[in-house]
Amino acid sequence: MKQEMVLVLDFGGQYNQLIARRVRECGVYCEVKPSTIRLDELRAADPKGIIFTGGPNSVYDEESPRCSREIFDLGIPILGICYGSQLMAYMLGGQVKTAPVSEYGRTKVHVETEDKLFAGVSSDTVCWMSHTDYIAEVPKGFGITASTPVCPAAAISCPQRRLYATQFHPEVMHTKQGERMLRNFVYEICGCAGDWKMDSFVEAAIQSLRDKIGEGKVLCALSGGVDSSVAAVLLSKAVGKQLTCVFVDHGLLRKNEGDEVESVFGPDGPYELNFIRVDAAERYYERLRGVTEPEEKRKIIGEEFIRIFEEEARRIGAVDFLVQGTIYPDVIESGLGQSAVIKSHHNVGGLPSVVDFREIIEPLRMLFKDEVRKAGLELGIPAYLVYRQPFPGPGLGVRIVGEITEEKVRIVQEADAIYREEIAKAGLDQDLGQYFAALTNMRSVGVMGDFRTYDYAVALRAVNTSDFMTAEAAQLPWEVLMHVSNRIVNEVKGVNRVLYDCTGKPPGTIEFE
Ligand code: XMP
Repeated sequence: MKQEMVLVLDFGGQYNQLIARRVRECGVYCEVKPSTIRLDELRAADPKGIIFTGGPNSVYDEESPRCSREIFDLGIPILGICYGSQLMAYMLGGQVKTAPVSEYGRTKVHVETEDKLFAGVSSDTVCWMSHTDYIAEVPKGFGITASTPVCPAAAISCPQRRLYATQFHPEVMHTKQGERMLRNFVYEICGCAGDWKMDSFVEAAIQSLRDKIGEGKVLCALSGGVDSSVAAVLLSKAVGKQLTCVFVDHGLLRKNEGDEVESVFGPDGPYELNFIRVDAAERYYERLRGVTEPEEKRKIIGEEFIRIFEEEARRIGAVDFLVQGTIYPDVIESGLGQSAVIKSHHNVGGLPSVVDFREIIEPLRMLFKDEVRKAGLELGIPAYLVYRQPFPGPGLGVRIVGEITEEKVRIVQEADAIYREEIAKAGLDQDLGQYFAALTNMRSVGVMGDFRTYDYAVALRAVNTSDFMTAEAAQLPWEVLMHVSNRIVNEVKGVNRVLYDCTGKPPGTIEFE
């Protein structure tokens, strides 16, 4: 049976991915496509409904994104949001003007609850607004279904053509009953049945991987991170021992991490696959000796990874498929041509060129991060692995300032383990975007038990962020910081000071290198 789908057409708004997530949370599969999608592609996708996102433009700008006029005649229900609502009104003969008063933030809105979009919503509700233009004249055949004192057409609809539009953003959490509105759209207006569930995704993915791979050989670079772990388990469930996972332990992992990965994916773990662990710490430390420049360190770590992987791949022989843990935000970023500059150095980009293979498989390319986590749990991967915070490919190499030595790695591993333990104990682990200990290259004088010390300063970092492009330092409770600091100086040999990094990004970066 074909899976039903709602398409989000991206007009440049910042919430395009969020809309897709919200629709999926309603149990309906949803994808984001550029607003310039061709009509035949759109017809082929056969969506049950279409949502136009917001966007920064005014419909009267020369450059403002448009969609093809015929979309409105396909008979597919459409919901326009913010710019998308104005575009719908404008293209169908209404008028859009600069509003006398702009509205930003939480706004009281009166809605007509007989309208299908607002069924079950309170007639006076709070919605999230962010606009300077508004619909000044409603297109023929449309009625006004919501208003605010300064925005008389805060929502409009033409139920006969199943066209709906809201000036506000139902996808944003601050729109109190936004979820209800989106549910109304996908179920009551588009007539979806709601067949998107994680267990059915996992089942369908396993079946389609089996069909595709047949008797073929599959190779996967396992980092122990969430995405590659979930991809590996999915593949192992699909093709068992036809899969080989190569895990390179570069000696720059967190404390015990190499063994944890091995206990899950190795021969004593629950999964059927071939697992190769390459203990390359010595080799890395050797290559990194005396190197202090951050980019140089990154380059060495990346190059060495590719070299090791290449050696292993040669030993394994030709493979048919190479697995990559690409997830949906990566796909959207590249697919829509938006910049991914900050991320380019993050991914292990060189792998495909060193492995002899027929095709790349990306089993998670349609999932958001939280969905990858759900799939991981569904597949029985331990929760501590599934909920791991992001950990950079170059590992502690980007958390040690100056030369990397075995001793420094030990210090940062110990300090970081204490920090993570205490953050979890304080119940803060799920609230923070990322948190870790780093080792500054500074040594200073201290006093411990009547003796002079000359030891390193550890820096603690904790940030809140939604996209990792910008971040602000988290305001950790003072008692937690004091306790962590005491434990680190008492328990970690070679440390006599602990500093907390209050810098945001920008001007800092999240990592500390
Ligand atoms: P920065 O330090 O650039 O980090 O503010 C932003 C996010 O990216 C992660 N990061 C990396 N991830 N390989 C990765 O897989 C890398 O080389 C890399 N460098 C940074 C960082 O942990 C944060 O989540």
